[in-house]
Amino acid sequence: MTEVSNETRFLHAIEMGLGAWQWGDRVIWAYGQEYTDKEIRESFDVSLNLGVRFVDTAEIYGSGYSERLLGRFLKEIDQPILVATKFFPWPWKFTKGFIPRALKGSLERLGLDAVDLYQIHWPAVTMSPETLMEGMVECVKRGWTRTVGVSNFGQKNMLRAYSTLAQHGIPLASNQVHYSLLNREVEKNGTLARCKELGIRLIAYSPLEKGLLTGKYSLETPPPGVRAGTQTMELLKKLPPVIKLLTEIGQNHGGKSAGQVSLNWLICKGALPIPGAKNAKQAEQNAGGAGWKLSEEEVEKLDEATDSIREYSTE
Ligand SMILES: NC(=O)c1ccc[n+]([C@@H]2O[C@H](COP(=O)([O-])OP(=O)(O)OC[C@H]3O[C@@H](n4cnc5c(N)ncnc54)[C@H](OP(=O)(O)O)[C@@H]3O)[C@@H](O)[C@H]2O)c1
Repeated sequence: MTEVSNETRFLHAIEMGLGAWQWGDRVIWAYGQEYTDKEIRESFDVSLNLGVRFVDTAEIYGSGYSERLLGRFLKEIDQPILVATKFFPWPWKFTKGFIPRALKGSLERLGLDAVDLYQIHWPAVTMSPETLMEGMVECVKRGWTRTVGVSNFGQKNMLRAYSTLAQHGIPLASNQVHYSLLNREVEKNGTLARCKELGIRLIAYSPLEKGLLTGKYSLETPPPGVRAGTQTMELLKKLPPVIKLLTEIGQNHGGKSAGQVSLNWLICKGALPIPGAKNAKQAEQNAGGAGWKLSEEEVEKLDEATDSIREYSTE
């Protein structure tokens, strides 16, 4: 295990974050119908009050609206908040100069001089990991981000990013990837282990598998709209025994919900979950996934119950 660098230590001290994809997204999340800025603000305030102080947004969430909304909230609070956002590598953005330029736009929307973490959202079609990182180095040099992360990077690309940054004396702070009890790819392909070895914080997105792990959806009542794809329906078939086990385990911890146990399982695995929430109730429940620990035996039981829930490829 590599020593965690001083610059990125703060990320390792955070147990739970708040995802802000829902803030303004109409296509997947039905922003404007099921919930509005009022509910989002309430979810943000509840999270803050319950100690969740790390918000993950991106320039593409709500086409910039998520960052704008966060910027508005930041002006109205006096508590410190850690802000992470992301660069989206559209194919027409093909030189490293696009990265600081995009960050400047994010900073304007957020109303900040610098963010705590700037991430590359996905590996790029038109830029190598080396070029992407050269762009990130420029962002650090300008003082526009405290740390640098990647997202959806497999081990090979992650190592290339890590090495490029190392040549400039900059640590790779994080890799944000899909990780939940229903998607354990990063455990199976070695990415989680490699992150731990190199002191890179693994940030777990869709930690509730887009709501499935709360137990509120079933084959009869699937999630609305585009979320009810083939893969989701396959997962829903196998979900009932997992929800039953999560609920049973929750009883050992004062009645924690299936969702809270799912989030705590990720914390026990050494990941930083960033669940999204549409309202205060969801945010409050999600915050209750941190601040306590499942036993090793409970983690093992959950591992066994979900081991063959889907097939995993190795890198
Ligand atoms: N880097 C990437 O490529 C990437 C990709 C995806 C996400 N992310 C990040 O990760 C964050 C979280 O992932 P996610 O939003 O995809 O999925 P998630 O956190 O697994 O699920 C969020 C959804 O689950 C439902 N939910 C949340 N808490 C609940 C509760 N306590 N009780 C009942 N339902 C609850 C809500 O939707 P309903 O009420 O409609 O069910 C909510 O919108 C995002 O906001 C974003 O910041 C990053």
